[in-house]
Amino acid sequence: MKLTILGGGGFRVPLVYGALLGDHREGRVTHVTLHDVDAGRLAAIVRVLAEQAAGVADAPVVSSTTDLDEALRGADFVFSAIRVGGLAGRAADERVALAEGVLGQETVGAGGIAYGLRTVPVVVRIAERVAELAPDAWVINFTNPAGLVTEAMSRVLGDRVIGICDSPVGLGRRVARVLGADPDEAWIDYVGLNHLGWLRALKVGGRDELPRLLADTELLGSFEEGRLFGAEWLRSLGAVPNEYLHYYYFNREAVRAYREAGKTRGAYLLDQQAGFYDEMARPGTSPLDAWHRTLADREATYMAANREAAGVGERDEDDLESGGYEKVALALMRAIARDERATLILNVRNRTTLSVLDADAVVEVPCVVDANGAHPVTVRPLPHHAVGLVTAVKAVEREVMAAAESGSRSAAVKAFALHPLVDSVTVAGRLLDGYRAEHPGLAYLTSR
Ligand code: G6P
Ligand code: MN
Repeated sequence: MKLTILGGGGFRVPLVYGALLGDHREGRVTHVTLHDVDAGRLAAIVRVLAEQAAGVADAPVVSSTTDLDEALRGADFVFSAIRVGGLAGRAADERVALAEGVLGQETVGAGGIAYGLRTVPVVVRIAERVAELAPDAWVINFTNPAGLVTEAMSRVLGDRVIGICDSPVGLGRRVARVLGADPDEAWIDYVGLNHLGWLRALKVGGRDELPRLLADTELLGSFEEGRLFGAEWLRSLGAVPNEYLHYYYFNREAVRAYREAGKTRGAYLLDQQAGFYDEMARPGTSPLDAWHRTLADREATYMAANREAAGVGERDEDDLESGGYEKVALALMRAIARDERATLILNVRNRTTLSVLDADAVVEVPCVVDANGAHPVTVRPLPHHAVGLVTAVKAVEREVMAAAESGSRSAAVKAFALHPLVDSVTVAGRLLDGYRAEHPGLAYLTSR
């Protein structure tokens, strides 16, 4: 089985390859093709993978190319994990928004809209190449903003593209752990859009254990989301929100912390990655060691400014172990390839799952996966407060897609202006101007 990874020079690729190395069963991936537009990054990651594979007899063969069509031919699965504009682009997304006094973040608010505006045209073109060259392949989308990007690709590929994120599974695992439940045995009622969802129940043997957690202040203080949001707010909601909702519920504090941090997350990671490549270039360095060190630092500093704004301490040791994306991606790939039923929280077309959205809207919900793909399960309706956020943000995503399709600047301004975390139409206009000055990838917005 051949797996193609787009964004193959990306920093998290060794996590995926590491997971593949642990799979010795029949029908496993035997060939990995890495594609990237940056030959230097590609070569660096190839060296890390070579060291990972040393001594593993059945290690998947790795090849790499900068030619997209070559990478796609013959693929059974395509992981799409690109970052249009790179980390420099991310840093600009964050910086321009913060300069306007609104949230500057990778996927949420103005930053996420700018990221979406330059990414959608690129992923639509990729989807078209997949449809042409590997029409039977399944595309697993990691590219952020993942919900929006998956929906844009689904307009070309239908249900053959499935979006994934590690945050719902991480949340489910943390809640299960504090409740003393086995995360693999628990039924997790988690619904919303990507980076905008709520865990509303965690059932073990048919019994919902969440009320027990919400009633226990000490337990609530013992895990990341409990500390970030505080016991009182979680009890008011009657649910545990995805950590990304911290940007909504504590927007003022998050914006202040991000502005005061001096360096944005993107800028921090840009420097960190430069250090990683320098280190790798030094004679005698083990590429894998350099990568491990860099990864550990990345995990430890994740959402540090939010934790500071909330006045909570360091991340739990248990959360530092990565185990997100690659596990979800592998579980999904296996369930499809081997027709082994699995239940996973995925980004798929809504159909009739959430009645407040249309059938083609991509949502993040529990799905049963088999050889025919991912099928969303029936869930309880969203409460009004969640309907408000989900429908507002979906309307924003639709404007981003409209702008990407038509090149319309007014659609792009509308996307910024309609976002709940952008508080003025004037600011929305200035945001678009600011982003257009930073990003060559937005030059296509030429019509009114
Ligand atoms: C989580 C999210 C991803 C996001 C990442 C950012 O894993 O699910 O969608 O890209 O965090 O982490 P970083 O270390 O790049 O700030
Ligand atoms: Mn994510």
